[in-house]
Amino acid sequence: MTLTIKNLGAPLGAEISGIDLSGPITSSAVETIEGVWRDRLVIVFHDQKLSDPQLIAFSKYFGELDAPGPNPYGQPFLKDHPELNVISNVVENGKPIGNLGDGEAVWHADMTYVEVPPKAAMLHSLEVPPPEAGGNTYFSNMFVAYETLPADLKKAAEGKLAVHDASANSAGMLRKGYKEVTDVRLTVGAHHPLIRTEPGTGRKALFLGRRPNAYVLGMEVTESEALLDALWAHATQPRFTLCHRWKVGDLLMWNNLSVLHRRDPFDPKTRRIMHRSQIKGSEGVH
Ligand SMILES: [Fe+2]
Repeated sequence: MTLTIKNLGAPLGAEISGIDLSGPITSSAVETIEGVWRDRLVIVFHDQKLSDPQLIAFSKYFGELDAPGPNPYGQPFLKDHPELNVISNVVENGKPIGNLGDGEAVWHADMTYVEVPPKAAMLHSLEVPPPEAGGNTYFSNMFVAYETLPADLKKAAEGKLAVHDASANSAGMLRKGYKEVTDVRLTVGAHHPLIRTEPGTGRKALFLGRRPNAYVLGMEVTESEALLDALWAHATQPRFTLCHRWKVGDLLMWNNLSVLHRRDPFDPKTRRIMHRSQIKGSEGVH
């Protein structure tokens, strides 16, 4: 097998071809994939056909798996594989088989409301709506967002911590066991710096997590809202983003601490089923 790497026409993202991820892969392939994941932040593999155990086996080349956060229904979607998450709008026998429905999923990074968020995520498409029905996924590069931040905003964000809301998922649904947030100063979730420094390289990135219910510690609420709005408006500009139009068999792997992602809504009459894993982070965010 010869790996081919092609950078996509955006400030992040690369396509890797020439590899079948359903079986064992060599340590040099793992190293290559890790390198592309570090540099380009999002990797797209096409034409993969992975069973759940195969998705788990591939994911484990990059570290231990991190179980999904609590979903609105209070139990794992895949009984036999609780370490995997299902992202789907399909309802069977009156019960959703997965999370997030068919609506928009707003910009976020996964599970940053915990102290040590997952470092990587994998999403494998099993069924997707036709291209005109919506459901594209977008990624934004947080290194470039930091590097292009106007000096006054850089200064305002420096040294500040924000709370990352644990109560709701990216589709705005309340997670089982959480209450609606009515005062952002009381938001429950981990506190992380607005500007993260990548261990090893020292490179800085904006680290925003999710906008709803966020709050910059120690600020007046109105000041915090204004700073967060300005940072989010900057960080999610189309010039920093990659748009992925899904096909069945795509597997995406992304660098969860260095990108934000969001999803377009899609036609509720269509079916979309994706299985997902995530890789545990090794340390808190600094
Ligand atoms: Fe997500």
